[in-house]
Amino acid sequence: MHELPPSVGIELTRTSLQEYWLGRLSQHVLDSYAGVPLAKFPEDLRTYEHLIWLARPDVVIEIGTYGGGGALWLRDRLRTLATYGHISRPHVISVDLDLSQASALLARADPRYAEEITLVEADILDPALPARVEDLMPARTRCLVIEDSAHVYDTTWAALAGFAAFVPEGGFFVVEDGCVDVEEMRPAEDWPRGVLPAVRDWLRTPEGEDFTVRRDLELYGISCHPEGFLQRRPKAGG
Ligand SMILES: C[S@@+](CC[C@H](N)C(=O)[O-])C[C@H]1O[C@@H](n2cnc3c(N)ncnc32)[C@H](O)[C@@H]1O
Repeated sequence: MHELPPSVGIELTRTSLQEYWLGRLSQHVLDSYAGVPLAKFPEDLRTYEHLIWLARPDVVIEIGTYGGGGALWLRDRLRTLATYGHISRPHVISVDLDLSQASALLARADPRYAEEITLVEADILDPALPARVEDLMPARTRCLVIEDSAHVYDTTWAALAGFAAFVPEGGFFVVEDGCVDVEEMRPAEDWPRGVLPAVRDWLRTPEGEDFTVRRDLELYGISCHPEGFLQRRPKAGG
């Protein structure tokens, strides 16, 4: 039997929003999907459902697998798209420095996971990684890309520079956990920093100028990804 995360209590007249946020933050790293660790807020998962419906990606590329719950949840959302006839085959490609834990946990939840989830053991800082991932997909595959690795400047930049090209017009690139750079959202001094500076710098590059920051997609008032929902603009006349 897997355990549910501890509940977060709230008293409307007493609990400050910051206390509530910090409670939710501690909770989300103990959450799971189908018994597999999944460190995402339910509100952000709902936003992903909207992005997947809007963009109808064939493949989700997730950078940062951790326990594998994100990959499994995303695969299951793509299965829904396939059931409705919008894509032919669900496929999630998930990258991490160490996949030993994720592969065991995924196999326990779904012994046939590898038919639709490809785990790639690699460092996002490796310049050969985008080509390696490209080889796993047919040409012109429409991807949703999610950067959820170390949440520092260099890894965020490497993910954007290496993987933005996989996002089609109107498609999304989500940079998770920009909350590390918002003082009021930080729970501890030893948290990493550098996500938002990397996103802002990259958006000023010629490649980045094709993307717009969709702050309206922080739909539910609470999100770990401020300034993180990036959408590639449709080409003029497109
Ligand atoms: C926040 S967790 C990912 C959570 C997961 N996406 C989920 O939704 O449950 C971050 C993961 O990124 C991985 N990571 C850290 N630095 C990395 C790097 N340079 N390249 C690839 N993965 C990295 C860590 O090993 C860790 O498993």
